[in-house]
Amino acid sequence: MPLVSMRQLLDEAAKGGYGVGAFNVNNMEQIQAIMEAARETKSPVIIQASRGARSYSQDKFLYHLMLAAAELYPEIPLVMHLDHGNSVETCKSAIELGFTSVMMDGSLMPDGKTPSTFDYNVQATREVVEMAHVKGITVEGEIGVLGGIEDGHGAGGSGLEHVTDPDQAVEFVAKTGVDALAIAIGTSHGAYKFSRKPDGAVLKMDRLIEIHKRLPKVHLVMHGSSSVPKELQDVINQYGGKLKPTWGVPVEEIQLGIRNGVRKINVDTDNRLAITGAIRKVFAESPEKFDPRDYLKPAREAMKQVVATRMKQFGQAGHAADYQPVSLTAMAKMYAQKAVGA
Ligand code: 13P
Repeated sequence: MPLVSMRQLLDEAAKGGYGVGAFNVNNMEQIQAIMEAARETKSPVIIQASRGARSYSQDKFLYHLMLAAAELYPEIPLVMHLDHGNSVETCKSAIELGFTSVMMDGSLMPDGKTPSTFDYNVQATREVVEMAHVKGITVEGEIGVLGGIEDGHGAGGSGLEHVTDPDQAVEFVAKTGVDALAIAIGTSHGAYKFSRKPDGAVLKMDRLIEIHKRLPKVHLVMHGSSSVPKELQDVINQYGGKLKPTWGVPVEEIQLGIRNGVRKINVDTDNRLAITGAIRKVFAESPEKFDPRDYLKPAREAMKQVVATRMKQFGQAGHAADYQPVSLTAMAKMYAQKAVGA
């Protein structure tokens, strides 16, 4: 099955009332872990690469690994998505390479750090929508600013400084025509999101629910949605790691989001933790080993377990065969006829 558009996956998820995890990758083992989890749970898949991942891997390598995944797992609808494109140019280069979905994060300036103005965000995102939709490619935009920094991208802070304003969200969607909307509700990228189990003071699910009421047909995206489970932290610390106590986004809160319009859930940190814990365990228990496969295999397996668990928790499990993926050319025609999502 060729790589497919994210819009179709999210439209199907909305019909079925479930969410789809979007998992970040940098290398072959991570892609394999996700595809194995998808096969085991019969899930449609969004795999995403940030700018950092594209430069780490030389994105051509990543693209061909994605083509291999599509060929080897033909039963799985598979999207290749650009995470946090910092400029129109970055989105353009991803589209030219073969990504089937891009995020234009105009909430920050192209330096990836400085919060932008509403007008800049609208103009840059609109430009990407025009460029992408003629090719049937999906666009995610962001309004409000997430906390934290990941791969050198982010405004830092706790995520509460720029929580999404519902009026702006409505205006942003109307002016840009984005397919999916990332909103800021107090989450941040990375392992250190909350210093205690989050409640409504720091994780603004009420704001998400309000935005969904105002934009009931828009696919909402939750970024910074790793749950940072204590079990994964413990493995790292047990084998010599030094993670400080921390809390992520509880899965029940994500499930509440899914009942209120969230269709895409971004997860990276949980997989990083699983991989690191598994590798540390091998290094600590078998210091004589030096074949990379001896630690990369358990690392891949640990990530697969996390991804399969999230696929079941988000509800995408069992939905891989529900629909026939539509080609990008057919998607482009549907955008031209304003028939997408209809
Ligand atoms: P986490 O750091 O919570 O996994 O978030 C990843 C993310 O939002 C990527 O865009």
